[in-house]
Amino acid sequence: MIKTKAAIAGLALAVSAVVANAGEVEVLHYWTSGGEAKSVAVLKDLLTEEGHSWKDFAVAGGAGEAAMTVLKSRAVSGNPPAAAQMKGLDIQEWADLGFLADLDGVATKAGWDELLPKVVSDIMKFEGKYVAVPVNVHRVNWLWANPAAFAKAGVKIPTTWDEMIAVGPKLKAAGIIPLAHGGQAWQDATLFEAIALGMGGSEFYNKAFVTHDDATLRSAKMVEIFKTFKATRDLIDADSPGRDWNIATSMVINGTAAMQIMGDWAKGEFTAAGKVPGTDFICAPAPQTEHQYTFNIDSFAMFGLESKDSKVAQDSLARLIMEPKFQEAFNLNKGSIPVRQGMNETPFDSCAKASMASFSSTAKTGDLVPSFAHGMATTSSALGAISDVITNFYNSDQSADEVVVKLANAVKASM
Ligand code: BGC
Repeated sequence: MIKTKAAIAGLALAVSAVVANAGEVEVLHYWTSGGEAKSVAVLKDLLTEEGHSWKDFAVAGGAGEAAMTVLKSRAVSGNPPAAAQMKGLDIQEWADLGFLADLDGVATKAGWDELLPKVVSDIMKFEGKYVAVPVNVHRVNWLWANPAAFAKAGVKIPTTWDEMIAVGPKLKAAGIIPLAHGGQAWQDATLFEAIALGMGGSEFYNKAFVTHDDATLRSAKMVEIFKTFKATRDLIDADSPGRDWNIATSMVINGTAAMQIMGDWAKGEFTAAGKVPGTDFICAPAPQTEHQYTFNIDSFAMFGLESKDSKVAQDSLARLIMEPKFQEAFNLNKGSIPVRQGMNETPFDSCAKASMASFSSTAKTGDLVPSFAHGMATTSSALGAISDVITNFYNSDQSADEVVVKLANAVKASM
C-alpha cells in the first residue's frame, strides 16, 4: 500500500514536470497518403506522450510543392509553423534568410555528428550549425511490380529500358496497363531521373543535374535519354494526367497495372495494404540502375519561435526524430530506411535491407547520387526550370533534339 502511494506520488510529480514544460508545435508536412499518415502518426504519438501538443498542418500534394507554397506565404506573413518538412537545398535557402532555429544544443547532447553519415549532416547544417533534423533515407530509383500481372502476360520484369519498352505490347495484350504513372510534373521528373541515371550513368547524372555542365545537358546521350522517356508514353494509360502517385501505386497493388517507377514511399502503400514483398509485389532497381542509388532525405527544419514552451516542445520533437524508437517505427511504415546509423536491421523487410546494403556500397563507388526530382541536387529555381522542360516535352510533340537545347538554356537562365 505504502509502495503504491509512493508510486502514485512519483508519477504525479513526473506528470507535473512534463506538463510544466508542455508546449505546442505546429508541424507542416505533406504526408497524407495511407502509408504516410501511419508514419507521421508515430511522431505525433511520441511527442504527445511527452506532454506536448501537436498541431497538424498537413498540405496534400506529392513531393511537397503545394506545402512549400503554403510555407512561403505563412513565413512572409510572419507566422511560420514550428517545424516544416523540407529538403536539401531548401534548408540552406531558408536558413540563409534567417528563419531557422539553431538545434546545436539538442544535436551535441545526442551526438548527431557521430550518428549521421557526413553527406547527410552537411545538408542539415547551415554555417556549421544544425538547423534541420533528418528523418529517413528514401531510395528513389525503384521499380515496383505486380508478379501476378507479369505471369498473366508471360513476360519478365524488365532490367533495361529497352526491355521496359518491349514488354509494353504484351502486357497490354493481357489487358494490363504496363506502367502506372501520374501525370504530374514531379512524377514525370521522377521517371525521367531514373532513365537518365540508368542510361547515362552516375557521372553523367551528376554533371547534368548537380553541376549543370552545359555540354552534358545538350549531349547526344541526353537526346537518347529523352527519346526513351518519350517512348514510355506508350506504356501509360489515358487517365494518367493529374493522377496522384498513391493512386498509381494502388493500380499496381490491385493488378490493373504491372509496374510503377517511384521512390520507396510507394512501399508504404503496399505495406499499409498488408502486402508482402517477394510474394505480392516485387521491388527491383529501376532498369539499368542496380548499382546506383538516388537518395532522397526527408527532414524537418525548425523555425525560430518566440514562446519558450513551444521552443521546449520543438527541441523535444528534434530529439525524438533522431531516437532509435522513432527511426524504426516511422521507417517501417514509410518504406524508407533509418538515417541514424547503427540501427538494428532485423525488423526491416527485404526491400529495406536491399536499400541499406546499396546505400553503403554505392557511397564507396561514387554511385550514391542526390535525387534532383526530390530537391536534393540543385536549387529550387534550377529544379523548377528542369522539371518544366521535362513535363512540357512529355506532354507535347517536341523532338528530343529540340528539348536538349531548351533544357540547357533553361538551366543556364535559372542560375
Ligand atoms: C518525399 C516523401 C513523400 C513523397 C510523396 C517525396 O518527395 O520525400 O516523403 O512520401 O514525396 O509525397
